Amino acid sequence: MNKVLLYCRSGFEKECAAEITAKAAERNVFGFARVKEQSGYVLFECYQQGEAEKLLRELPFQSLIFARQMVVVGELLRDLPSEDRITPVTGMLTGAVEKGGDLRVEVPDTNEAKELLKFCRKFTVPLRASLRANKILLNYESAKRPVVHVFFIAPGTCYVGYSLPENNSPFFMGIPRLKFPSDAPSRSTLKLEEAFHIFIPADEWDERLASGMYAVDLGACPGGWTYQLVKRSMMVHSVDNGPMAQSLMDTGQVTHHKEDGFRYRPTRSNIYWLVCDMVEKPVRVANLMADWLVNGWCREAIFNLKLPMKKRYEEVSQNLQLIQERLQEKGINAQIHARQLYHDREEVTVHIRRIWSATPGRRDER
Ligand SMILES: C[S@@+](CC[C@H](N)C(=O)[O-])C[C@H]1O[C@@H](n2cnc3c(N)ncnc32)[C@H](O)[C@@H]1O
Repeated sequence: MNKVLLYCRSGFEKECAAEITAKAAERNVFGFARVKEQSGYVLFECYQQGEAEKLLRELPFQSLIFARQMVVVGELLRDLPSEDRITPVTGMLTGAVEKGGDLRVEVPDTNEAKELLKFCRKFTVPLRASLRANKILLNYESAKRPVVHVFFIAPGTCYVGYSLPENNSPFFMGIPRLKFPSDAPSRSTLKLEEAFHIFIPADEWDERLASGMYAVDLGACPGGWTYQLVKRSMMVHSVDNGPMAQSLMDTGQVTHHKEDGFRYRPTRSNIYWLVCDMVEKPVRVANLMADWLVNGWCREAIFNLKLPMKKRYEEVSQNLQLIQERLQEKGINAQIHARQLYHDREEVTVHIRRIWSATPGRRDER
């Protein structure tokens, strides 16, 4: 098995391919990214034996922007006989995975492939039994062991492989399943909720998304993002010239500022979260976010960068670089992650967490 299969949003295969090629090369892994447009995945074929496994271990999944999942796979299995698809799949995994902890039979996130999901669900049951009988899977689920993936791109045609639980997406098809809250003022609410799931480990929610925190939401109307913060019992300053949903104003947790988000400055010094969903040129948003972080006006930020029509990977990389440089200039240590979320369309979502100021004696703890 010497290929890395990356799941991505349909239409963003080129960006995903450019990214894996660049990030693999930084680790001296070279290969060829096979792209089929609108397929919802990219296959990176490594030139040297063993290098797909090296990437799986050494390339942090969290550092990938356009990939939703990262799996090592072998050759495409075609024309699986309908009377016995299990034997070839089991054969492909024999020797490659032992004592796996989970099985996911998945498809690319495209309308055509989704038709196969019903079959995938049915197929999972007998396949799991066979993999358990062959010791490819443990007899119980374990979050500490490799995950076996079977990825059907067409009827009878699939890639088979595995991902590592410490370096993969924990979600089926790489997509967190979120339910739209019926009392939220806009569907955008799911973007911020998904961002929390993707960027903040579940066991840190109570500390980093804590009740009573202060937050600023730039470009807030009608209030889908503010809703998420209010739901976590935060006090929110929502900045936008438009109208906020009355239901949010009625909570007493929201202050609405009818102002330009680029000019607004915080009126208190204990803002923890800055979130921003203004539709603007990415470089303007990137600079604004850098201003907030450099000045210590917030501790963590989540924001969108709207993507241009072309050179989208380059555009995102340049903006992340810009932010990184502006923080470094001021000696500010920060974690920066970006991801094209399931609920993002022509955009990516960025999360930045200030860790501490590098100036001795100015450790910036909450
Ligand atoms: C995509 S909508 C935000 C949706 C919101 N996050 C939600 O979940 O309901 C973008 C918002 O940004 C606001 N906006 C755009 N430019 C702005 C600016 N310079 N200052 C403040 N708000 C701005 C628009 O008025 C619009 O309401």
